[in-house]
Amino acid sequence: PLPPPFQVPLPIPAVLKPVSTSGGTDRYEITQREASAEILPGVRTPLWTYEGAFPGPTIESRRGRPVTVTHRNELPVPTVVHLHGGRTPAASDGYPTDLVLPDGWQEAAPHTGHGSAQGAHGMHDPRAVVTKLTRDYTFPLDQRPALLWYHDHRMDFTAPAIWRGLAGLQIVRDDAEDDLGLPAGPRELPLMIADRAFAADGGLDYPSLDPTLRERPGVHEPYLAGVLGDVILVNGAPWPVHEVDAARYRLRILNASNARHYELEAVSDEGRRLDLVQIGADQGLLAAPVTHRLLPVAPAERYDVIIDFSGVPVGGLVRMVNRLGSGRTREVMAFRIARRASDGSRIPLALSTDLPAWRRSDAVRVREFAFRVGQMHGGHGWLISGLPFDPARADVTTHLGDVEIWRMVADVHHPVHLHLVGFRVLSRSGRPPLPHDVGLKDTVSLRPGEGVEIITRFDGYRGRYLFHCHNAEHEDMAMMANLEII
Ligand code: C2O
Ligand code: CU
Repeated sequence: PLPPPFQVPLPIPAVLKPVSTSGGTDRYEITQREASAEILPGVRTPLWTYEGAFPGPTIESRRGRPVTVTHRNELPVPTVVHLHGGRTPAASDGYPTDLVLPDGWQEAAPHTGHGSAQGAHGMHDPRAVVTKLTRDYTFPLDQRPALLWYHDHRMDFTAPAIWRGLAGLQIVRDDAEDDLGLPAGPRELPLMIADRAFAADGGLDYPSLDPTLRERPGVHEPYLAGVLGDVILVNGAPWPVHEVDAARYRLRILNASNARHYELEAVSDEGRRLDLVQIGADQGLLAAPVTHRLLPVAPAERYDVIIDFSGVPVGGLVRMVNRLGSGRTREVMAFRIARRASDGSRIPLALSTDLPAWRRSDAVRVREFAFRVGQMHGGHGWLISGLPFDPARADVTTHLGDVEIWRMVADVHHPVHLHLVGFRVLSRSGRPPLPHDVGLKDTVSLRPGEGVEIITRFDGYRGRYLFHCHNAEHEDMAMMANLEII
């Protein structure tokens, strides 16, 4: 039984407490384990979780203050943790074959996706297999303040693992951002938006070829384009409602859906559309705010947005609507204006001054990539420039510090993500970027038939990283490539 919309209160994921903060590092421990939650009323939903919760606990961090997270795997399959948007040394970046093995898992067991050549390659890569029940991930967090998220990244099985619940938030802050006077405390809301489908018994419904997620990767044929759910969850609750003051709020929006795109608008019950004032992108604050009425959000993108409820009457409802949805997938969540309140927050006209502004003339090379459907091992695959992912192949080799322009073309929608670096969008099909392409990004939505140019500097660390489509099903079906920084 699906609940009527706007009945369930919006949960706010708990902030994880460090086990120690000595030696200039915050240390955390996360156990990955099975748990269940009452997501739909009256039924329990079995989940795979970080610390028993979906979303996992939020990690609150300061810019430049390193964090070590010890992950312990008590799930029945290997896992991999990637901090999406993190400027992370390669050893902690969660390469898809850098596994955290569960207890009793034999290395000879089929844990890298038998039946797929890329899985087999992963097993023979001497850098790849780490036989450990726990693993320490170290994040220097020497990066702009931003909303990051951590999620599973195992070879061939990322999509079903995220679907089962392996996703959580990490927020990086610094003093300069704290001093801006943006809405804060209870007026800053992380919103992890993700769609899911449920079976009649309350279990999550996902069309895996192998529901144990042990051997055979992939989904049944009707789902090759991506798996959509008919229930929209925000912070793990279906179509939640949140009571707000008639004041400004900072919404830190993440689309953690496997494949669903959103075009968000905020509509009051008088039918008025509220401004969504964007102050930040995937990789932190913009130089100056940009006002939207409609905000497209592709999988894995983050938007930092201020919304002002002060013009809405007390008792009024503001619905967050997805213009791309239909019927109940058109609704996302709602805000109920509970009371008048004073508001000392502001939206400064100058938000940040450290946004990289690479010019075309800074680029030492231009690369071209095609994100298209194709054949892989005689079956369906999603390919980058005609090739399925192979851990043993160097797709891009670049030098630390090089500035490059990438031209990427797409057949259908592909949200493309680069690990390690942030980038700027230069153009879309020869035209200027769209208003929401502003700022420093790590994921860009290639729309059907479109060509997008980005520019970035390969900065930070040497090592083997990735770029891939963040439609999670496309990613599992090989739309991923190696990015080697030397
Ligand atoms: Cu959010 Cu390589 O992933
Ligand atoms: Cu894709």
